[in-house]
Amino acid sequence: MNIILGVTGSVAAYKSYDLLRLWAKDGHDVHVILTKGSLRFINPHSYHYLGAKGVWSSEDDFSPAKNQKFFTAPVSHIELSKWCDLLVIAPLGANTMAKISMGRCDDLLTSVYLALPPHKRVLLAPAMNTEMWNKQQTKDHWHKLTHRPNHFIASPERGLLACHDEGEGKLANIETIFHLSLALPQSSAPQKKWKVLITAGATISPLDPIRYLTNPSTGELGYIMAETFLNHGHQVVCVVGPYSKSKFNDLKDHPSFTLKQIFTAEEMFEETKQYFESQDIFISTAAVNDIKFPPSLKKLKKDQIQNQLQVDSNPDILGQLLLKRKKSQIIIGFAAETELTIEVVKEKILRKPVDLLLVNKSQGPWMKTGGEQGFNESTLGFYAFFPHSASPFDKKNLDQTWAKTKNECAKKILEWCQTNAPIASIAPITPTHRD
Ligand code: C5P
Repeated sequence: MNIILGVTGSVAAYKSYDLLRLWAKDGHDVHVILTKGSLRFINPHSYHYLGAKGVWSSEDDFSPAKNQKFFTAPVSHIELSKWCDLLVIAPLGANTMAKISMGRCDDLLTSVYLALPPHKRVLLAPAMNTEMWNKQQTKDHWHKLTHRPNHFIASPERGLLACHDEGEGKLANIETIFHLSLALPQSSAPQKKWKVLITAGATISPLDPIRYLTNPSTGELGYIMAETFLNHGHQVVCVVGPYSKSKFNDLKDHPSFTLKQIFTAEEMFEETKQYFESQDIFISTAAVNDIKFPPSLKKLKKDQIQNQLQVDSNPDILGQLLLKRKKSQIIIGFAAETELTIEVVKEKILRKPVDLLLVNKSQGPWMKTGGEQGFNESTLGFYAFFPHSASPFDKKNLDQTWAKTKNECAKKILEWCQTNAPIASIAPITPTHRD
């Protein structure tokens, strides 16, 4: 992605170094534009060392030598506006906020902003003193900016500010701005928006008020699915287990994202049921705990655990929702197995006849056998099965991975949905349930 990072006069300007580094490490091209005010807080050379393609100061619109390094046409603010896919201003101070709200353009950054073609995206991350943030003038500017098309926000946080005041006005977390920037809808996003429901992460099965059973799933796979679909302009609801990756929270300002955090499988089932009927796609990546224990309000004694522990079944969320599915919905399931044979796959498909099943080998890091771990790893081989195709249990599908990484898997799922939606013509295999 081609990104312009605008940095304005704020003590938080030093945090923009880290933001640039995150994008550069992720393979994005970044031009940095500094306002006059920002120079009181940062050193322009540092951006070069941290991977910026170009670093521009407020007067550089009139520097033919600099312009020629990057562009053939002469007017820098026009060329930069055309070049970028996304303009991020972080931190955005009160002065530049007022200027871009009013359409003033007396330096390079504000000129680039005004010259942006309407389909280009803008992400604004304000930072200022609480009194300044709460002033009616600032509120008016902010209201105007946030209601402009293709404008997105990373809201300021509450906290201790550089001026020693405590309140709202702290720059959003850098990781939040980074994750949000990657999940924004691309300008080429299709007109038809799908509603996509994703379960992710591990659920917990409490034993008593201080102990629980769980697994190492971090929700990374579900997060990557969410990012991929958001990036293509779709609406995503994620129902996520506790202790999943905190980056789900980074998308709280994303206008097409809803996050529901739960603890247990039952809570996940309740939340998922609320949304299921209205969704076009359901992707079940969660590592749901199949078993639960009768609730104990007091800490269990060791002998109670050893001698009297009762084990019950948790709801099979995917299995139950498949019984309520509409033909037009696409339903995708996952399965992590230690033994991956065609018999295992067949049993699963008959029990849960999803439209697309992705299976992978997995084991926890405590199994020191050197096999594929699956949890918290970006590389992982996924094998795909198409239960409603002519040969649903094709053994050949286990010969070769369908996707090698979680990112590739998410991209291929999106493409598969694009060519298969809506699946109105399937004849569902009748689910057979264990429980
Ligand atoms: O039955 P099995 O665990 O093999 O099925 C895996 C699939 O079912 C995954 O997509 C998982 O998210 C989902 N699942 C569920 N509720 C359960 C167990 C698994 O939704 N209780």
